[in-house]
Amino acid sequence: MSIPDLPKSTTLEGRSVLITGSNVGLGYSAALLSLQLGASPVYLAVRTTAKGDTARERLLADPVVKQKNPNAVVKVYQLDMSTWDGVTAFASKFKSDRKTAGERLDVAILNAGIANLNFELAPTGNEAVIQVNHFSTALLSLLLLPLLESSTTPEHTARLMIVTSESHGRVESLKACPPDDYNYLASLNDKKTFSTMDRYGLSKLLIIFFLRELSTRVSSDKVIINSVCPGMIKTELTRQVPWYAQPVVWILYTIMANPVEKGAACHVHAVATVAKESHGLWYEKMKLTPYGDIVTNQEGQKLQPRIWNETMEALEKAVPNVGANI
Ligand SMILES: NC(=O)c1ccc[n+]([C@@H]2O[C@H](COP(=O)([O-])OP(=O)(O)OC[C@H]3O[C@@H](n4cnc5c(N)ncnc54)[C@H](OP(=O)(O)O)[C@@H]3O)[C@@H](O)[C@H]2O)c1
Repeated sequence: MSIPDLPKSTTLEGRSVLITGSNVGLGYSAALLSLQLGASPVYLAVRTTAKGDTARERLLADPVVKQKNPNAVVKVYQLDMSTWDGVTAFASKFKSDRKTAGERLDVAILNAGIANLNFELAPTGNEAVIQVNHFSTALLSLLLLPLLESSTTPEHTARLMIVTSESHGRVESLKACPPDDYNYLASLNDKKTFSTMDRYGLSKLLIIFFLRELSTRVSSDKVIINSVCPGMIKTELTRQVPWYAQPVVWILYTIMANPVEKGAACHVHAVATVAKESHGLWYEKMKLTPYGDIVTNQEGQKLQPRIWNETMEALEKAVPNVGANI
């Protein structure tokens, strides 16, 4: 399915935009499109600052940015989502810099993500895909919320958008709410639970439960929270695929993938085109799409509070009182 063009009227004129994982792939292209549509400052939150600096230079050298947004400001921040400290250190510095400069944050696009093929533990002790795509994304959402809320004005409601994936609807390992007598999220740190085919989609399913619960606790008058999947896009997400399987990836990309610019337009659509009606909802290739059955069926109704509670328990352990105002 192709991705439509953004409405001609789409603008991010004068909006400040933070994008995680913006040195390459969808995040980079979303930063470029945001700048082309008038955003400034654009904050690149990246794992490696040298890569962020290179991205910044490329963004500011773009002819459309130079012509349409000549005074654009792009700032680079270090963010390592494989550790709790990486997330909290970024959030503290980022928020303190905004406070010092008297700057708002109009839009946060939480885009960084990984798709490991093999089991790996993050330094936190959590399985790495769950750490980056779920726990750290959830933590960053909570840490940014107060700044976003205080940035809402009568003219513009701040945005929090989390990039997920349609693969959440194909998860095989979580089709029913697990028994109450153990910590489900902690159980994912056991290598035996890891499946290459399933883990990425599972991480996206977990963050969708979190996002949906969060959106019931935060008014869309304060922050509009939503999510997108751009469909298959050729990026570096498949970097771990071994050389002998790369031809298969190449064929899939050739037949099915949309260009990265089109994928990035999905990010921008969710933060600039749709508004309060999108709160808590999910857009696949710009189209409002029902979540996978597991999110909304009877088991999903039980799973959402379960995943929220277990997530908040883990986040509170890592960052005491992080959920105090939610
Ligand atoms: N491509 C697709 O077909 C597709 C489809 C649906 C959803 N998505 C989602 O789109 C988002 C962007 O993915 P992409 O396709 O653009 O992949 P990508 O090219 O691999 O980009 C991923 C970005 O995330 C960053 N990142 C990874 N681990 C990180 C960490 N521990 N801390 C901070 N940043 C980290 C990467 O930084 P480094 O460069 O330093 O590793 C990179 O900037 C992801 O959430 C992905 O799940 C992608």
